[in-house]
Amino acid sequence: MDRPEIILAPGPTPIPPEVLLAQGSPLVYHRGPGFGALMREVSARLKELYRTGNADVLLMTSSGTGGLESAIQNVFSPGDEVLVPLAGFFSERWTRLARAHGLAVRTIDYDWGRKVVPDEVARELAVHPVKGILLTHSETSTGVIQPIEELARVANEAGALVVVDVVSSLGAVPFAFDEWGIDVAVGGSQKALSASPGIAFVAISDKAWVAHQAATLPRFYFDWSIYKDYADKPEPENPWTPAISVMQGLHAALELYFQDGVDAALERHRLLSRAVKEGAQALGLDLFGEGLDENWTVTAIRAPEGIDADTISDRIRSDFGCVIAPGQGPLRGTVFRIGHFGYFSELDIVRGLAALEMTLERLGHPVKRGAAVAAAEGVFQETPGGSNDA
Ligand SMILES: Cc1ncc(COP(=O)(O)O)c(C=O)c1O
Repeated sequence: MDRPEIILAPGPTPIPPEVLLAQGSPLVYHRGPGFGALMREVSARLKELYRTGNADVLLMTSSGTGGLESAIQNVFSPGDEVLVPLAGFFSERWTRLARAHGLAVRTIDYDWGRKVVPDEVARELAVHPVKGILLTHSETSTGVIQPIEELARVANEAGALVVVDVVSSLGAVPFAFDEWGIDVAVGGSQKALSASPGIAFVAISDKAWVAHQAATLPRFYFDWSIYKDYADKPEPENPWTPAISVMQGLHAALELYFQDGVDAALERHRLLSRAVKEGAQALGLDLFGEGLDENWTVTAIRAPEGIDADTISDRIRSDFGCVIAPGQGPLRGTVFRIGHFGYFSELDIVRGLAALEMTLERLGHPVKRGAAVAAAEGVFQETPGGSNDA
């Protein structure tokens, strides 16, 4: 029987019925008061989520990567030097994007799974000043949450623009655009907010706008000035035909997210993360990556000796319709990843862990049936209702 897949991957994440209904509703025409109200409300919610009173937040029809590309195109000029602390697949994407646009990229290389060390970045910036630093908040390939607050501090002290990929972190872990001194932060609709893929959002500081005025890389579709002109109309618009249905869904997703407030949503992510981690450990599995207590978006788990990690992600999908993510890059085959940001409840996690137990048993790993489920229940029973707001 065909059933919807059970998604426990780090995005796109499961979409709540309210969001599906909103995006399945008749189109709101994209020029005029209806869409204007949608844009106003979505932007206001996102500003609250970014924790900014000062920044502009622009909405673009694109996946997250388009938003990242817009950041490169709008604040840099050919030959500008940027620094990328490299610690996984998505920080590597920054280097590829920047090089594709003719920037001079310096890197500090870390083993995947490591946290970037702010003091090391400070030392590098002291020796080699750069125009900007390109950071990844949640390194989805390893599950590690990077210390953006400290990294932004050392970058600001060195006079570098702070550009951050928050695609898989915004809404799942604490973030504070103004307080941390961020210049550009790029998010996406399909991660912690549980809307459909298709909208990228970019928060832009005054300093980034000044850089934008002087930047000379070619830009058109993603030219922030054009977006701002349209967003500042009495009835805000997008310059080009936007993904209207996705915007209607994103509006509903934000209403749902804010029902219990940002703090409750963050606490839910903390608990779900703990349950997954303790559940995996109860099966005798080792977790991957530094800073596990802060890594609330995705958990990277080492496959048991003798079992290929890809076989686990393939088999849990074919046997139970449950989608988890394989390892990326050098972690392929040794690590699999369970995403736990977005519209998840306690029982979604329990169900996923049950599927994991049965899959491992079928693959010959000795499993005490119910051990992972019991560990997760233990976490949830400590604070009944704590993660119930999904
Ligand atoms: C940290 C991070 N950055 C960027 C992206 C790319 O986003 P998209 O696939 O929406 O272009 C992802 C997607 O998984 C991500 O996790």
